[in-house]
Amino acid sequence: MYLLNVNKKYNIYIENSFDRLKDLDIRYNNIFIISDENVDKYYLKSIVNIFQHKNISFFVINSGEESKNLNTIYDIYTKMVDNFIDRKSLIISLGGGVVGDIAGFVASTYMRGIDYIQIPTTLLSMVDSSIGGKTGVDFLGKKNIIGSFYNPKLVYINLETLETLPQNEFENGMAEIIKHAYILDKEYLKYIIDNKEEIYNKDKDILANLIYKSCQIKSKIVSLDEKEIGIREILNFGHTFGHAIETESNFKIMHGKAISYGIIASMYISFKRGYINFEDIDRAKKLLRYFNLYQKMSINIENIYNHMIYDKKNNNKKIRLIILEEISKAKAIDDIYKEEIIEAIKFSLEG
Ligand SMILES: NC(=O)c1ccc[n+]([C@@H]2O[C@H](COP(=O)([O-])OP(=O)(O)OC[C@H]3O[C@@H](n4cnc5c(N)ncnc54)[C@H](O)[C@@H]3O)[C@@H](O)[C@H]2O)c1
Repeated sequence: MYLLNVNKKYNIYIENSFDRLKDLDIRYNNIFIISDENVDKYYLKSIVNIFQHKNISFFVINSGEESKNLNTIYDIYTKMVDNFIDRKSLIISLGGGVVGDIAGFVASTYMRGIDYIQIPTTLLSMVDSSIGGKTGVDFLGKKNIIGSFYNPKLVYINLETLETLPQNEFENGMAEIIKHAYILDKEYLKYIIDNKEEIYNKDKDILANLIYKSCQIKSKIVSLDEKEIGIREILNFGHTFGHAIETESNFKIMHGKAISYGIIASMYISFKRGYINFEDIDRAKKLLRYFNLYQKMSINIENIYNHMIYDKKNNNKKIRLIILEEISKAKAIDDIYKEEIIEAIKFSLEG
């Protein structure tokens, strides 16, 4: 259906079924599938059927971020050794971002690196985490602190898997999609606003376009800056505020909602600095509200600020924020004052 290439290194296939996987000439005799309990229930069988003539073993993790740690990695390595997985084997990641980050990390470290492919099954993992080669796990309460950059051999998106995805997880992915439009592509933003009802109702053609476009944006940015030393940081739009909100809520507020408040706070700073109009913020609020990502919220503002500066303080660094120079043109700033941040958080929480 759609085909994209990332930095001349690997392809992203966007399809309506798993069928095309059969034609992709996947030449490995040993396949090790990593999935989670929810995805396993719906899709593991289909993948096993496709590769039934090969030696297949698998590991199913408990779903959720709690599994993204070194204990899970240890258990996976153990099963791989037990199943004689060697350097010529293939790992298949079948699941959302949690499974993808774990499988990528295992692939990058087992026997000094073996091949893997990503089959993302959440909207967020389709447009974000499966592309760009970041892998990793959480450690001592810190997210993604152990990890590597390691590209998959291919990414295969089956849009049908979105049919079983819970609505709040769908909305979570929409936050990253809206972020893509705000940092890089005005026309795409218009497309999302004009088609929001169809997107919400999961119109197949519109969704396929949407995912294709977002994959294209993410691919373009990571191709320019694989190791995140430059432009890739614009993908953090809304995330410095968002991470602080997630931390303050003890991760009860979902990532997509948290970054939506971050998008509004960052846009407020862009407005105060004279880059964008107030109506632009209103339009963003309306769009985020439509996808249940934004409403009035009460949370301790001073604590959010403290979370934002915590790591920076330890490293003697300033806060670096991504704001908008204009709609769909992001830039980083590091000359930001506490009062400006507090005012932006306050504004964003007003809903
Ligand atoms: N590597 C990167 O560049 C990158 C980028 C962004 C996020 N991430 C990471 O991604 C993770 C979040 O990923 P996520 O939002 O996909 O969450 P997730 O992997 O936890 O999946 C969300 C939930 O949906 C379920 N699920 C997945 N696919 C399903 C389907 N098709 N049908 C029914 N249920 C399904 C899962 O079991 C889980 O309960 C975080 O750990 C984050 O750090 C990584």
